Amino acid sequence: MKILVTGKGGREHALLTALSESPDKHQLFAYPGSDAIATLATCVDVAGLPELIAWMKQNGIDLCMAGEEALLVKDRGLANLCAEAGIPCWGPLKEIAQLEASKAFAKKFLRRHGIPTADFTICTTAEEANAALTETPIVLKFDGLAAGKGVAVCSSKTEAMQFIEDVVMKRCFGAGDLLVEKCLTGPEISIFASVCDESYQILMPARDYKRIRDNDQGPNTGGMGAVASLELADAALMKRIEEEIVKPTVQGILTDGLTYRGFLYFGLMLTPGGPQVIEYNCRFGDPEAEAVLPMVRGDFATYVFEAAKGNLQPKLISFEPGWSICLISASAGYPASSRSGDVISGLDAVGGARVYHCGTKRNAAGQFETNGGRVLAVVAQGATRVEAREKAYAESAKVTFDGMQRRSDIGKMHFE
Ligand code: AMP
Ligand code: GLY
Repeated sequence: MKILVTGKGGREHALLTALSESPDKHQLFAYPGSDAIATLATCVDVAGLPELIAWMKQNGIDLCMAGEEALLVKDRGLANLCAEAGIPCWGPLKEIAQLEASKAFAKKFLRRHGIPTADFTICTTAEEANAALTETPIVLKFDGLAAGKGVAVCSSKTEAMQFIEDVVMKRCFGAGDLLVEKCLTGPEISIFASVCDESYQILMPARDYKRIRDNDQGPNTGGMGAVASLELADAALMKRIEEEIVKPTVQGILTDGLTYRGFLYFGLMLTPGGPQVIEYNCRFGDPEAEAVLPMVRGDFATYVFEAAKGNLQPKLISFEPGWSICLISASAGYPASSRSGDVISGLDAVGGARVYHCGTKRNAAGQFETNGGRVLAVVAQGATRVEAREKAYAESAKVTFDGMQRRSDIGKMHFE
């Protein structure tokens, strides 16, 4: 089979690795891919989405898998264009990928289908937004692309009014509504499901560590590490998440006259009153994918291929018992900025862990160097959380580069 994955980061490196470890050998392609990904897939160099579709048709691609979300809502949508071209696509149509692209779309969907989520008001003007500030803390969310800076958890009214001024009056992120949302509390958990029309399979749960510094301090990032294990949530909690959140979401999509094929990511908060949806993403999480995918056994390639054609077969894969822990090394300045060009040393010394490249490139001498905010994911498994953690930290200590930032508390849990 010829399989193409879209994206270029650590998640895509992990997806392609899982495909390459499937029992049958497949020809793998990536768009755009990276120097590290080029060691297991052919990177396709085309100008844009229409050219990619034409290239996939000409080259007989059997399956397109969406790694990152961007192309799903670009132009007429990756999955929509694949459907027209007759290429099975694992990743949803543009119409329902709005669950990730538009926070207002997602919140209205959640409310319409009675799925637990924080109460909210969608505001167009500053007056409406200020009137909705009825309590503190309060959460404000810009309904549009904001490079990860569009959410503010405000502890005071002054802070909230400042965010409203920046977003609604000064339009710092451009045009778009503002959501004013009740602030929830509790640990967060990332739940993933493979959704295929009316069928779904819940995958191994994970948790990511969003803040740059230890003890969840400092600004939010794309994720500084992740933990994955079937033990993360007990059977009663998983049942509740399935009944109250996953099932009504899958049913809600159908009720709305839409269909979904792809990974669906539920960002949940486990509040004292039960699990609530913070956000949907229409793809696997990053860095959660780097932690979860090494735990997958079975035939991942056939699993995705069949599901993309409308035939989800849960038995084709299973998950290892135990724990998987992913540590991210980020470059100097991240997340405010990122530094490129720092040579990475020690990659060859890593033995007991997997290394996925999030943002690296090869220099003229053939060495890998930093090329982005998040640089590397070092991932290790163990029978216990402590074992996985010790292994991950011991292996990742072998890898260094100037200005490297790495948290020292990945794997620490709310229930410790
Ligand atoms: P989002 O982009 O919607 O996932 O929000 C980013 C982060 O902001 C989440 O991972 C939470 O940590 C936090 N957050 C978002 N919504 C809420 C909420 N209603 N209550 C408390 N924290 C929230
Ligand atoms: N780990 C958060 C995300 O993938 O959006």
